[in-house]
Parts: sequence; structure tokens; C-alpha cells
Amino acid sequence: MDIDYQSKVSSVVNEIKPSAIRRFFDLANEMKGEVISLSIGEPDFVTPWNIREAGIFSLEDGYTHYSPNQGYIEVRKAISEYLERRFSLKYDPKSQILVTVGGSEALDLIARAMINPGDEVIILEPCFVAYRATVTLARGIPVVIETKEEDEYKLTPEALEAAITDKTKYIILGYPGNPTGATMTRDDLAKIRDVLVRHPNVFVVSDELYSELSYTGERPASIANFPELYDRTIVVNGFSKSFAMTGWRIGYMAGPAPLLVAMNKVHQYCIMSSPTTAQYAVIEACRNGDKEVEEMRDEYNRRRRVIVQGLKDAGLTCFTPTGAFYAFPSITNSGLTSEQFCERFLMEKKVAIVPGNAFGECGEGHVRISYAASMENIMEAMKRLKEFMQELKDGSVK
Ligand SMILES: Cc1ncc(COP(=O)(O)O)c(C=O)c1O
Repeated sequence: MDIDYQSKVSSVVNEIKPSAIRRFFDLANEMKGEVISLSIGEPDFVTPWNIREAGIFSLEDGYTHYSPNQGYIEVRKAISEYLERRFSLKYDPKSQILVTVGGSEALDLIARAMINPGDEVIILEPCFVAYRATVTLARGIPVVIETKEEDEYKLTPEALEAAITDKTKYIILGYPGNPTGATMTRDDLAKIRDVLVRHPNVFVVSDELYSELSYTGERPASIANFPELYDRTIVVNGFSKSFAMTGWRIGYMAGPAPLLVAMNKVHQYCIMSSPTTAQYAVIEACRNGDKEVEEMRDEYNRRRRVIVQGLKDAGLTCFTPTGAFYAFPSITNSGLTSEQFCERFLMEKKVAIVPGNAFGECGEGHVRISYAASMENIMEAMKRLKEFMQELKDGSVK
């Protein structure tokens, strides 16, 4: 009997597209060893040893059980101390921090716990692929602001003012940004604060997953640092990027206690608690991870310079990224769409990168190149990119 499985899938799930990042990553994996992958947003570093060891010790000591839904209090205390020390953000570990399965779960919980059908959520494209999907899955309406290269992909107060309506529930700010590598300074954020002060019903979700990876030399600022916005901002952060801990699946949110009660309700029924071993590991990350984080940041910064120069040498224009570990060059002078560009670059030069339209329609004309890869691979990829661009120009590849 033929079963129509598609009709069993909810219309909202049918509506969302699979992530194009995974498609290119999987394609590269199928082509096995010969491919250099600059496609996935994942540090090439292994988690620092002292952090791994803390996880191992917890297993040796038999800590293999569920934790409280909200996360162990020791973990929340360690996160609270870390946020205050690194970002001058103060949160009560008892009521204002929820430990989640990566920043990803935090974004999903926020959407499901806050959105009523038809509520609008402002997202800034090009952006991390989960923003739109989590809002759509929660029956919200993503309202897109297209950030522009000429504005260094910063949110402008004018664009924000124009996007806010009576239905706006929250805005998701993602700086340092994926895929652009853009950052916002304290002064930039102050202009956004001035708009939001006029709209007291609008909340802010500040995705700060890359907050440790800023190359401006300034201390990264959070919009939650402004007292006027502290009570309506939820900070999302985690350990995947800054501490090279993607596989441990651990993140958190920090924000107003009554909202966290709501998020925890969803969390307790869907997830129960974050991985116990990972929770023990991140106590060590918060307390004794600074040196390794700094070393990784310095290395990313060296690679960033190499990649920006390599893109220039290949004849591509690129906004200079100031955070995260991505470059987002324009490929319009290649005459190809971003998908054609990535597919041909993969097939012909064996380098995997991601088409810009994966991050929203306005990302078309760009590609995302991750520099969370070894210097050797980055240099080789830049060499191949230069050849590829030359061959396109000469018409010597079809
Ligand atoms: C901007 C941004 N936020 C959140 C995440 C989610 O990270 P994780 O769930 O591993 O903490 C990512 C991962 O790529 C990201 O780029």
C-alpha cells in the first residue's frame, strides 16, 4: 500500500527548508579526504584539555544522572561569575540562568515560550539559519530587516524603527554575526537602545555565541549592559564556538526570571536536562578557560588576515569581518549565482564553502567562508580560489 507520508507532516514543517549548510557539508563529506571544508561553523580545535579532563573526572566520579532541569546550581554559579567577569553582566544563578542544549535549544525555547500565532519577530538577514526556522515553527512571523554591506552589516536605528509594529514580540540581534562576521560597538548599540526605549513592549534576544571572538580590540558590548534594556533582554550564549565545544551540546540563556520559568517549562518536558558530563566540563571552562580562549582568538585573528588578503588577491571584494570566524565576500563579479559558485568550486577545486542565500535571500551574491580551519588549509583554499577565479575569467572552465 502506498502511504502518503508527506500529508502526515505538519504544514509548518513542510514550510521550512533543510539547511543549505548541511547540504554542502554532506556533499564535501561524500567526496571524502580530497576536499578542504571551509563550510561548517565549527572550530577545528579540540576542546582544551583541562575542560575535557573535568568531564572525564565527573564520569570517573559517577556523575552520570539527570541534573535539575535548570542545570546544576554550581554550573549556573560558574556561568554567572563568568558573565560578570567577562561582560559586566549580572544574573542571579538561582533564577536568571537556564542551562540548555547549545544556544540552539535556547533560541527554540524562547520562540516556543514567547510567541503566540501571528506575533512578529524581527530578524536581521543574512543571519544564522535557525532564527527564521525557530520563529516559523513556533507559528510566529519572521519580519526581515536586510542589513547591508555598506552599513558593515550593522542594524541601523532607522531600519529598526520602520520594522516595529504593534505585533512585534522581540528582535533577535546576532553580533558578532554569522555569516557576516560583523560586530556592533557600544555606541552602535546605544542607537538601537534609543529606538527600543520608545517601544517598551519589544523584547530583545541577544545571541552572543561569538562574544569571545571579536577582533576590534574593544571589549565586546552586550545590549543587556544598558540598564534601560536589561529587564527585557534575554542573552543567549554557549560554549560551542568560544571554547571549541560544539559536540558537548551545551549553552544557556540569561534573562528575566519570570520568562525563564516559562522557558524551563518547555525545556523540562522536551529535554529534561542538559548533558551532565558537559555541565561538569563547563564549570572548568568558565573558571579556567580564559588562556585557551585567548590563544584560539589570536589564531583566528591571524587566519582572518590571511583570508581577507587571499580574497582580495583572488579578485573578490569582502567586507572586513571583525568577529566570529567567517568571511562573507561578494561573488557577483564571477557571473554565477552563489549556489552555482559553491557547487562549481567544490566540484572543480575541491573546496567546500556555503552559498550566501542559505542565510536569507539578501545573502545572494555572497558566499560564506569559515576560517575555523587550519592555516595550511586556508592558504591552499585561497590558492585554489585564485585559480578558480582566473579560470572563470579566461572561460577555461565550464
Ligand atoms: C549565531 C549562532 N547562534 C547560535 C548557534 C548555535 O550554536 P550551539 O547550539 O552549538 O550552541 C550558532 C551555531 O552555528 C550560531 O552561529
